[in-house]
Amino acid sequence: MAPALRQNVLEWLQAAVPQVRLQHILRVEQMAIALAEHHQLSVAQAQQAGLMHDLAKCFAPAKLLAVAAAEGWDLDPAEQQVPHLLHAPVGAVVARDQFGIDDQTVLGAIATHTLGSPEMDAIGAVVYLADALEPGRGDTPQLHHLRQLSYGDLWGAVYETCVFSLQHLLENKRPVHPRTILTHNQLLPARRRQLTPRIAV
Ligand SMILES: [Fe+2]
Ligand SMILES: [Fe+2]
Repeated sequence: MAPALRQNVLEWLQAAVPQVRLQHILRVEQMAIALAEHHQLSVAQAQQAGLMHDLAKCFAPAKLLAVAAAEGWDLDPAEQQVPHLLHAPVGAVVARDQFGIDDQTVLGAIATHTLGSPEMDAIGAVVYLADALEPGRGDTPQLHHLRQLSYGDLWGAVYETCVFSLQHLLENKRPVHPRTILTHNQLLPARRRQLTPRIAV
């Protein structure tokens, strides 16, 4: 990743998110780089998407909804109920408009980092996992297992992280976005064996 772009993004983030969030972002960047190196993916794409995944994390609900309206998105009821879910796709809009990112892989990975997507590619998987599993998320046996799995079996780890996230939402009586269910269904072990090249590493 070009040092000047990274510096610009860091300066923008300093003003847009609290320190604790910035530290999370930097850990996601590092884990995304490590996963991309391990799985022989583009480190530059993983780093860009990792560093920019939470650009819109602290946007107010009204601002998130305004960007969604300006982009002409059809919102799911879960997004209307919890506009914060939009911080991922809105982050991709900020990356495009503020930093001139036009790499669809990078923009897609930013947009799907929270809910996943049945069409996510390997860089999307790396950023989804790095966001959910970076060291600051805690050190439970389950997180430890998922971190190990993310190096051994990228798509298996996305599937299990998706299950983990669904369980958390259900246990806390929070709305489940249909895209998370579609991601889960796409990555069921029996189906994963017949994955299209787009989703294979
Ligand atoms: Fe996020
Ligand atoms: Fe994040």
